[in-house]
Amino acid sequence: MLSVSNLSVQFGKRVLFDDVTTQFTNGNCYGIIGANGAGKSTFLKILSGQMEPTSGHVSLEPGKRMSVLEQNHHAYDEYTALETVLRGNKELHGIKTEIDALYADYTDENAERIGELQVRFEELNGWNAESDAATLLSNLGIDASQHYSLMGDLDGTLKVRVLLAQALFGNPDVLIMDEPTNDLDYETITWLENFLAHYDNCVIVVSHDRHFLDSVCTHISDIDFGKINHYSGNYTFWYESSQLAARQRAQQNKKAEEKKKEL
Ligand SMILES: Nc1ncnc2c1ncn2[C@@H]1O[C@H](COP(=O)(O)OP(=O)(O)OP(=O)(O)O)[C@@H](O)[C@H]1O
Ligand SMILES: [Mg+2]
Repeated sequence: MLSVSNLSVQFGKRVLFDDVTTQFTNGNCYGIIGANGAGKSTFLKILSGQMEPTSGHVSLEPGKRMSVLEQNHHAYDEYTALETVLRGNKELHGIKTEIDALYADYTDENAERIGELQVRFEELNGWNAESDAATLLSNLGIDASQHYSLMGDLDGTLKVRVLLAQALFGNPDVLIMDEPTNDLDYETITWLENFLAHYDNCVIVVSHDRHFLDSVCTHISDIDFGKINHYSGNYTFWYESSQLAARQRAQQNKKAEEKKKEL
């Protein structure tokens, strides 16, 4: 679904990633963990194309759509809540905008182009987009009376829910989120946990929230020493396994020490 090949990232002398090759597969939810400053946010920015790696590349399976939870809470201030959600599907939104412009300046030539665009529009389920977006907003507790409010006029808690709806809109094939629970209220976190636990596509999420990771992750991806290792299971399972492995290593070292002394 999403492949990372020979990825290296370096800031000055600091090496964040060193020749990482890995894959993110459909149907899995990966919780990216690692120490503060390990490079979790940088990794998500590279996966989503917001940042270029020093070397290597990322490739998304052709025809698949990726969606990223917007971090800038003011990015859509001039749009209505509904429009913000619709803009989550860039291809569909682009087609709709082009069709509207062509209709406004209707000629025979334009009619042909409109026909072509409409085929793709229908494939992308364009006719239902507005009602789907409205349903998503309502499910996230945003009343219909606020769907046409400007984002700039919404209070912080509503705004982050609209941005969440934008990321989820149209069931993207790959969904990328950096610390989504940070700005959400308890009720919305529970809603999101439930949504992601039943999500069939690929989710890649950074979170410090253990409870959240436990409820949504099928895999834990640990960033350590410039590499990324995937482990199946949720956070608690990863934590207990890694504690056990550390204890076993310590015991083996102790035994080796004792043997050395004996000899
Ligand atoms: N554009 C940049 N230029 C130089 N250094 C950077 C840049 N972006 C990030 N860094 C550095 O790279 C390291 C990793 O940053 P990043 O934000 O990816 O870490 P993180 O794992 O998300 O940390 P946190 O848990 O605090 O969110 C940090 O030391 C940071 O200062
Ligand atoms: Mg970060």
